[in-house]
Amino acid sequence: MSEFSAISGVRSLHRLIYASRQRIAPADLEHEVGAIIRASIRNNREASLTGLLLIHDGWFIQALEGPAEAVMTTYRRIIDDPRHVDTKVLSAGPATSREFADWNMCARHMSASDDAILDALALRAAFRPDTLSATSALRLLKAVRGIQERTASAAVG
Ligand SMILES: Cc1cc2nc3c(=O)[nH]c(=O)nc-3n(C[C@H](O)[C@H](O)[C@H](O)COP(=O)(O)O)c2cc1C
Repeated sequence: MSEFSAISGVRSLHRLIYASRQRIAPADLEHEVGAIIRASIRNNREASLTGLLLIHDGWFIQALEGPAEAVMTTYRRIIDDPRHVDTKVLSAGPATSREFADWNMCARHMSASDDAILDALALRAAFRPDTLSATSALRLLKAVRGIQERTASAAVG
């Protein structure tokens, strides 16, 4: 492998999506999620990472996208975080473009008004993100991104 392809390999755009189970007392959830988001914004900006963190029903689902090496380094750090367990990679590999380019990391709690999304994805009865296919996981996070965009523009307009 030439030096150039080795470098372009680590710099090329990758996306990783994983699911994990929260290990945070309900009373501490808001506080801990706030701390996770603050650390993520600080570190991910530095590492050219973008993504989305979905928080629902005792689960985290997160997309991380950016240079392959940064994605893996960050994911290794995240795996060791005691605030969740049973991390399972749902999808990982090269990506042609960023799907979550607007956020260094934003979190979304699903609420009752978001149920339509879960219904559409047939997920509401038993929310088991660890069984999602790569395609469904990306579809879910993109649907959440759509809500996030509409909510943000409603707040501005
Ligand atoms: C579900 C979950 C998602 C996280 N996502 C990120 C992330 O995208 N970027 C990040 O730097 N840290 C993330 N963290 C936090 C890391 O595990 C770790 O606490 C943090 O990176 C340490 O940052 P610091 O050394 O700057 O304090 C996440 C943690 C959890 C539990």
